[in-house]
Amino acid sequence: MIYDTTNLNPPKILSQIEKETTTLGFKMASEPQTGSLLRMLASSKPTGKFLELGTGTGLSACWILEGMDQESTLVTVENDETVLAVARHHLEADKRISIQLSDGEDFIDGLKDQTFDFIFADTWPGKFYHLDEALALLAPGGFYIIDDLLPQPAWARDHAPKVPKLIETLEKQTDLFLTKFHWATGIMVATKRSK
Ligand SMILES: C[S@@+](CC[C@H](N)C(=O)[O-])C[C@H]1O[C@@H](n2cnc3c(N)ncnc32)[C@H](O)[C@@H]1O
Repeated sequence: MIYDTTNLNPPKILSQIEKETTTLGFKMASEPQTGSLLRMLASSKPTGKFLELGTGTGLSACWILEGMDQESTLVTVENDETVLAVARHHLEADKRISIQLSDGEDFIDGLKDQTFDFIFADTWPGKFYHLDEALALLAPGGFYIIDDLLPQPAWARDHAPKVPKLIETLEKQTDLFLTKFHWATGIMVATKRSK
C-alpha cells in the first residue's frame, strides 16, 4: 500500500509554526501534503525565482524554502500583519526570502515585467481575480500551483461556485499544460509552455 500522509519528513521549524498558527486561530493554513508537493517542485528550480501569494503564518513558505537551493529567492505577500508576524519571526532570518505586507493585487501589479519560475497562488488575487496578471508573471517552464479546490470547512458560503469557474478558466489557457489532483485539498499544477 501507499500512504500519502506518513513519513513526509517536514521541515524542522514546521511544528512550531503550526503551534502558533493554531494559537492564533488561523483557519486557512496549508496542510503538510501540499507542503511536501511544494517542496519537491521547488527543488526542481535551482537558482529559481519564487513567488507566493498569501503567506499566512508561513507554513507553505517554510516547505518551499526547504526545497529551494541557496541561489534561489522567494517573495511572499500577505495583507494581514497579525499572521504575517509569525512568518516573519520564523523565516525572515533566511536571506533568500522577502516577506511583504501588501494587498496582493497591488503587489502583482508592481511586479509587472518580472517573471517567476514558481508561483504558489494561495490567496484571492492571482487566483480568483487578477489571474491573467499573475499568469503573465510565469516564466516558460514555470509552475503555477493552486490548492483548496476541494470543499474546505473554512470556505465562505459564496465561495463554492467560484472554484469550478476558476478551473474552467485555467483549462482554457492555451499556453498552459495542467494537471488536476483530486488529492490533499484539491490541487492544480500548471506549467507555462515554451513558445
Ligand atoms: C489560504 S491562506 C494562505 C495560507 C498560507 N499560504 C499557508 O501556508 O498556510 C490565504 C491568505 O491570504 C491572505 N489574503 C486575503 N486577501 C488578501 C489580499 N487581497 N492580498 C494579500 N493577502 C490576502 C489572508 O490573510 C490569508 O492569510
